[in-house]
Amino acid sequence: MTKELLVESAQKVKRNTYSPYSKFPVGAALLMKDGTIINGVNVENVSFGATNCAERTAVFTAITNGYKKGDFQAIAIAGDTEDFLPPCCICRQVLAELCTPEMPVYLTNNKNEISEIPLKELVPYAFTDLDM
Ligand code: THU
Repeated sequence: MTKELLVESAQKVKRNTYSPYSKFPVGAALLMKDGTIINGVNVENVSFGATNCAERTAVFTAITNGYKKGDFQAIAIAGDTEDFLPPCCICRQVLAELCTPEMPVYLTNNKNEISEIPLKELVPYAFTDLDM
């Protein structure tokens, strides 16, 4: 699986967004270690705090389908932005819980460019693994 194909998957699923309030569609494609792609989109709500981001939709779907911590290989995120679209900090925290610090995160922009960044650079000094 190339990063281009994973990005294409995130771009395609973006069409399914439910984002009538922000009009800011986002698609995510999670690559699992077994080669499966699990998608997510942002799902908004008139009670804005009930909104779920694309990345968390994908991660929660993976867990729902039986995948475990450590089964995650990469994630691609697609929006319509001119700049590379990074995950919000709540999504970064969720990724930090379940994925390795080295996991590549593929950010994209509306010029079809890809920026690859390891999760640990998006979540430095993460609140995780604190022997709780
Ligand atoms: N959003 C995502 O789905 N992922 C991100 O990483 C950034 C923000 C969504 C949430 C909301 O529906 C819309 O984008 C505007 O914030």
